Amino acid sequence: MFSTRNYTRSDLEKLRELYVRAGDNSLWGPVAGGRQFDLLLQRPQYSPEADLFVAESRGERLAAYADVMREVRIGRVVMDLYVQPQFRRKGLGRRLVEGVCVRASSLGAQRVHAFVDETNRGGREFLSRAGFEPVRRSLVLERGGGAQAGETEVDFGGISLGRFRDGDEQQLADIQNRSFEGSWGFCPNTADEIGFYLAMTMTHMQDVLVLRDGDEVVGYLWPQILERSGEEGGAHGWIHMVGVRPDYRGRRLGKRLVEVGLRGFSERGVESVELTVDAENTQAVTLYESLGFATKATKIWYERQLP
Ligand SMILES: CC(C)(COP(=O)(O)OP(=O)(O)OC[C@H]1O[C@@H](n2cnc3c(N)ncnc32)[C@H](O)[C@@H]1OP(=O)(O)O)[C@@H](O)C(=O)NCCC(=O)NCCS
Repeated sequence: MFSTRNYTRSDLEKLRELYVRAGDNSLWGPVAGGRQFDLLLQRPQYSPEADLFVAESRGERLAAYADVMREVRIGRVVMDLYVQPQFRRKGLGRRLVEGVCVRASSLGAQRVHAFVDETNRGGREFLSRAGFEPVRRSLVLERGGGAQAGETEVDFGGISLGRFRDGDEQQLADIQNRSFEGSWGFCPNTADEIGFYLAMTMTHMQDVLVLRDGDEVVGYLWPQILERSGEEGGAHGWIHMVGVRPDYRGRRLGKRLVEVGLRGFSERGVESVELTVDAENTQAVTLYESLGFATKATKIWYERQLP
């Protein structure tokens, strides 16, 4: 009654609807079901016909999808899996996971990662039964409005604050890769991927703050603003990424960058700002807490080792 198979181009519109239904359950959040959907299927290092699987009921409706995000450079793929509520507990999720693992092995990955909210008991139980183990936690931190931070003068001690310009993708890739080198789950980015993530986060290159020491880029902050409709309406802000080069740490540059970023958000009418941080990155967590961020949710990363 259900078949699981690779995605084909004729699934496009049904898949779009499925991503709308997935909403926050999608790895990419609600933007994936909106105007960013087409972009999602055209991302670099990705082939939807090979990396995306669907479950179909009676040749009509798509009941589920499982998508593979290739990060084989760090030995893994990240799985995005969603089964529509009325089709759950019928073994579809399980079948799709097996498809993802076969694909991941053929790409040369050693492990598959997936994450779920700590409160998602069903998702956690499902992953445990499917051979995954919890390996890491990420915190979603949030800061409400009423900012005082960022209202003071910002002194970067001889380091200049500016913005990237169109065409600076390689520079942004370089500072991101240096800032996050060795961080758990971080896969170094190419300039092409940076271009994709900018588009996906609906961020202009000129919105990304950059710190320079002379000609050298030593830090950056990548803000993201999303207009939400419905009950959650209004403009919401995210700090998509913030980083300081290891040899420039310990000078409060990161904190000042976040303060400037927060001021930029409030100038654009954004009340609350979120970000995700590795739970073991205590330096970053302490920094954010000192600026008024508090934990809103915890995400658990699960891992399945491949043979
Ligand atoms: C988690 C999810 C993918 C499971 O899909 P599914 O097709 O319902 O899962 P399956 O039918 O293959 O379940 C396989 C086994 O997992 C366990 N399981 C699945 N859902 C469960 C739940 N809600 N509570 C407890 N156990 C659960 C059971 O052992 C189940 O076997 P059983 O039905 O014989 O008891 C689906 O609920 C979903 O899309 N949720 C929203 C997105 C999400 O949470 N994704 C996280 C995974 S990346």
